Amino acid sequence: MQILVVDHPLVAHKLTTLRDERTDSPTFRRLTEELVTLLAYEATRDVRTGPISVTTPVAEAEGIKLTSPKPLVVPILRAGLGMLEGMTRLLPTAEVGFLGMIRNEETLNASTYAERLPEDLHGRQCYVLDPMLATGGTLAAAIQFLVDRGADHITAICILAAPEGVERIERELADLDIPCTLVIAGMDSHLNDKGYIVPGLGDAGDRLYGVA
Ligand code: URA
Repeated sequence: MQILVVDHPLVAHKLTTLRDERTDSPTFRRLTEELVTLLAYEATRDVRTGPISVTTPVAEAEGIKLTSPKPLVVPILRAGLGMLEGMTRLLPTAEVGFLGMIRNEETLNASTYAERLPEDLHGRQCYVLDPMLATGGTLAAAIQFLVDRGADHITAICILAAPEGVERIERELADLDIPCTLVIAGMDSHLNDKGYIVPGLGDAGDRLYGVA
């Protein structure tokens, strides 16, 4: 897996305000969207395109356009929903599928409780949205789910990651033989004993949706 930490002052500025516990939900939602749009710019460097020509008012010009099949954006419920608008602002023609994952407290493995995705993902480029890569169990299971459906190019976009989660993804998906990239705004120090990223920003879903 290729890991890209987006190093840009606007990303760092927005991330700092997201972290601040005084940032209210409306501001948190708006900043999340803006931050994801910046991450999406980097995350879509490999989006598939083909050549076209257009006529300008002056002459013919060679250009490119996104090709079919359309990219598929997959927010993981619930907090990934807060990233959707920021992503589709940059990729307005993308299709959107939804994936809800839950952790089985006995096996500690994540499994799917809801999904609205095409059955066949062969040939599809998928952009998975999940703000907090903590233990990595959910994201690893979501990526495996898409691969099992045939996806052949995966980019995961997260706001923050913990080293423990990244290591788990790399370990669990070591045999993946398709391009897989993780794009993040920041790599934090560690997970605490409650599974929160430190210093992190708290519970992303709660802060997005105003749950105390
Ligand atoms: N999920 C969150 O929302 N925050 C964390 O710190 C870890 C997981």
